[in-house]
Amino acid sequence: MLTQDQLKRQAADAALELVAEVAAPDVIIGVGTGSTADLFIDGLAAFKGRLRGTVASSERSAQRLASHGLPVFDLNEVQTMPLYVDGADEIDARLHMIKGGGGALTREKIVASVAERFICIADESKLVERLGAFPLPVEVIPMAREAVARRLAALGGRPVLREGFVTDNGNVILDVHGLAITDATGLESQINDMAGVVTCGLFAIAGADVALLATQNGIRRL
Ligand code: 5RP
Repeated sequence: MLTQDQLKRQAADAALELVAEVAAPDVIIGVGTGSTADLFIDGLAAFKGRLRGTVASSERSAQRLASHGLPVFDLNEVQTMPLYVDGADEIDARLHMIKGGGGALTREKIVASVAERFICIADESKLVERLGAFPLPVEVIPMAREAVARRLAALGGRPVLREGFVTDNGNVILDVHGLAITDATGLESQINDMAGVVTCGLFAIAGADVALLATQNGIRRL
């Protein structure tokens, strides 16, 4: 029986196989945030010298990439990337996701938007029938915290401020419990339209292109 960490490593290794297919001296890879992304970063170290570099979705990932000697570029210097590789807190069969457990959702969405393909790596426990058991992270400009919380409550959610946490962008996170997510793309637009919201952790309007889900019987590709 493989542990969850072993499964995460298996998913990360499967993504590294995709990196091997595109690796070239001019190629930049987009890199996500979280414990699964950390394993991917550690494996990516083997590609040092065979890639131009990376773009990171958080300061944490940037530091880990740099610690392996992998160049980290500012996204403003990069026009395209063949792959963006990241984990998820939940993913459904349509490849819609909830992300942001690590609080990096905004930069994750931005870096992913510049990549040709979003590769989601996760252990199979992240695959759900319906999104929403995991509280939905919403990044909010600090002065709008209470106003946005009231609007999220009006949608039927229970927003909880992530205590002692400030995003890489200097904002706060509201984790919204109890949302019934039947229309993920509609809800994503609705929340993103609220004044003061930077972005929410629904990745449905632009979901993953490929999910590499590690199971006890190998990788399941969606
Ligand atoms: C960070 C994220 C992560 O991808 C998500 O939280 C999954 O993390 P992990 O790989 O540790 O389970 O969205 O903002």
